[in-house]
Amino acid sequence: MIPETMQAAVLTGFGGPEVLELRTVAVPRPGDGEVLVRVAAAALNNTDLWTRRGAYGLPGDPDALAGWRGPVAFPRIQGGDVAGEVVAAGAGGDAARVGERVLVDPAFYDGPGPDASPVGLLGSEADGGFAEYVVVAADRAHDVSASPLGDDELACLPVAYGTAAGVLARGRVGADETVLVTGASGGVGLAAVQLAVARGARVVALTAPGKDDVLREAGAAAVVHRGPDPEAVAAAAADAAGAALDAVVDVVGGPLLPALLTRVRDGGRWVIAGAIGGASVALDLRRLYLHNVALVGSSMHTPAHFAGLVADAVAGLVDPLVAARHDLAAIHTAQDEFARAERVGKIVVTP
Ligand SMILES: NC(=O)c1ccc[n+]([C@@H]2O[C@H](COP(=O)([O-])OP(=O)(O)OC[C@H]3O[C@@H](n4cnc5c(N)ncnc54)[C@H](OP(=O)(O)O)[C@@H]3O)[C@@H](O)[C@H]2O)c1
Repeated sequence: MIPETMQAAVLTGFGGPEVLELRTVAVPRPGDGEVLVRVAAAALNNTDLWTRRGAYGLPGDPDALAGWRGPVAFPRIQGGDVAGEVVAAGAGGDAARVGERVLVDPAFYDGPGPDASPVGLLGSEADGGFAEYVVVAADRAHDVSASPLGDDELACLPVAYGTAAGVLARGRVGADETVLVTGASGGVGLAAVQLAVARGARVVALTAPGKDDVLREAGAAAVVHRGPDPEAVAAAAADAAGAALDAVVDVVGGPLLPALLTRVRDGGRWVIAGAIGGASVALDLRRLYLHNVALVGSSMHTPAHFAGLVADAVAGLVDPLVAARHDLAAIHTAQDEFARAERVGKIVVTP
């Protein structure tokens, strides 16, 4: 029996924690080609905070309040990472799917096909999973009935592991390569460490002090600590790598980029998937083109990347780390904890 109303964390505009309100709202109804998913667990991501703050800027106006694709239609239920169960199918939908355990691909794509680009995100361009129920396109709800992972663990995967899978593919990170991962203890970073190790790469993890053990357990061959002096961090990273880096998986950006770029080998790749340490950098372009280094931007994943991730989840080949679990009603506590960045792994809320 599907109720008429549900609890949801609703974003009412750009701003501080006060614009995120717990409300009773109508349970959405699935339309053609859609299913209704009862949320079992939903994980937090950095994008929840940046979207709430409107921190993405706009082309030509870096300080404009904006979501990652520009305007956000409020009120909006955030939450891009959803694991749950199909409880209803829209008109003409496949009723046989009711009861199926699913992992939701949070991306909206610019077209059909396995290599389509993401142009929207569940919880930003449509209502997401910080609620008891969410409507998603039926073909974005992937069957994970056979996965050995629990709901909390599955919820850690879509944005962080999806983004990491996209970064590694776009950066062509391969076996026997040495790759530096920044923000290595965070959601995307830890996923990138695990997935790069699984691909046979040698990983140097850049992180805050005190997180070495978890990163080594995740497979990092070496751990380097971040600090206030980018030149010193770059030198330590180069030391740990032992030779020029084949690739850098970077969710931090900022002043480390120009400092460390010279430690990337000729023909190497630097993939940017975040800017948590600074969105603007001064770059000597000669250090880029004279060495055929590719600077690659990477946003989320393609349908093919996500299908690979689902296959890994079903086969139990990924090992997401749940750092903390809160009731949906404690969303503010969960976001505070997330913003402190002291944890290793993901924070999950359950309705
Ligand atoms: N491109 C995409 O599609 C995509 C998708 C998801 C997220 N992102 C972006 O990727 C970044 C990370 O997201 P996330 O969800 O993984 O966040 P997260 O879980 O909070 O991880 C961020 C990590 O960055 C490090 N860090 C935090 N503040 C820092 C600072 N001032 N300077 C240097 N390092 C700092 C910390 O790791 P250590 O202590 O280990 O250094 C922290 O755990 C964000 O910028 C986010 O917007 C992009």
